[in-house]
Amino acid sequence: MKALVLAGGAGSRLRPITHTSAKQLVPVANKPVLFYGLEAIADAGITEVGIVVGDTAPEIERAVGDGSDFGIEVTYLPQDAPRGLAHAVLIAREFLGDDDFVMYLGDNFIVGGINDLVERFRTEGPQAQIMLTQVSDPRAFGVAELGPDGGVIGLEEKPERPKSDLALVGVYIFSPAVHDVVAGLKPSWRNELEITDAIQGLLDRGHRVESTVISGYWKDTGNVTDMLEVNRLVLEGIEPAVAGEVDAASELIGRVVVEAGARVEGSRVVGPVIVGAGSVIRDSYLGPFTSIDRDCTVIDSEIEYSIVLRGASLHGVGRIEVSLIGREARVTPAPRVPKAHRLVLGDHSQVQISK
Ligand code: G1P
Repeated sequence: MKALVLAGGAGSRLRPITHTSAKQLVPVANKPVLFYGLEAIADAGITEVGIVVGDTAPEIERAVGDGSDFGIEVTYLPQDAPRGLAHAVLIAREFLGDDDFVMYLGDNFIVGGINDLVERFRTEGPQAQIMLTQVSDPRAFGVAELGPDGGVIGLEEKPERPKSDLALVGVYIFSPAVHDVVAGLKPSWRNELEITDAIQGLLDRGHRVESTVISGYWKDTGNVTDMLEVNRLVLEGIEPAVAGEVDAASELIGRVVVEAGARVEGSRVVGPVIVGAGSVIRDSYLGPFTSIDRDCTVIDSEIEYSIVLRGASLHGVGRIEVSLIGREARVTPAPRVPKAHRLVLGDHSQVQISK
């Protein structure tokens, strides 16, 4: 079995964060989302991995390299434009050969890996194995309709009137039977070759499509609310580890990771929290579900349920919550300008100011 990982796409939903970075590389608990997927693939015993890349190819290639850090062998497959998930299968035809394959969307996150899915595919031998999850607004997803016996009877991409609340999660397993269907697909209304249509095509040809319904295990990490939620899920499972320096005036409560080279001074940290290598936390409070990436400074500040990306700094700011602070961003008070906020915000930024 091989794996096809999709790491192209514009990432417009995460602006302004993704102006400077591929959305698959945005860190969750200080590790790029994509890496969790690659680890899950390696853990399932799959070593031949094709990664479909687009405009952000150099960044993805720099981060993943030849895959040896993950115990996999990576082949990069360039896609000229985001032409759809089934188009990615089309251009990977030669790489995939006649093997079964896992298709993994690089911005999806699944707690618990894919071993069960792979195992089920191997023992039951369907032409496609999909994962479904209940969502509140199915119109934003591919949606599955199940028959009375729980079998998949139909699929629609972003339907206006969804037939169920079961959305397709971005991890699928296919037999090579999918290639014939993909070769005959026509672009959808959004001008993409849809993988949902390919799975429907398998059903139309009388092939078996098996599904597993999972609950609360995944998030599409395409928006900030979901990023914070995934960050929370991962931090809930971390083991405390202090490799950096924590002075006697500091207090660490609960599961806290302080990476090597990080310093915590005169601060109170209530886990789960992770502090990245090279970061300095001084005279501050870090509250639950906060990830501070590498080389950040948090001085005389309070922050909780937030993600702070590499090289950002917070100096002398009161409580910050539910926030995603971008790379090298600086947050400071405006001392001589009472009752006024001073902002330098990138395009598409969102700021909520308490009055
Ligand atoms: C894609 C699929 C959709 C699936 C979703 C999961 O949507 O087309 O069927 O539910 O991924 O992340 P897209 O991200 O292209 O809008």
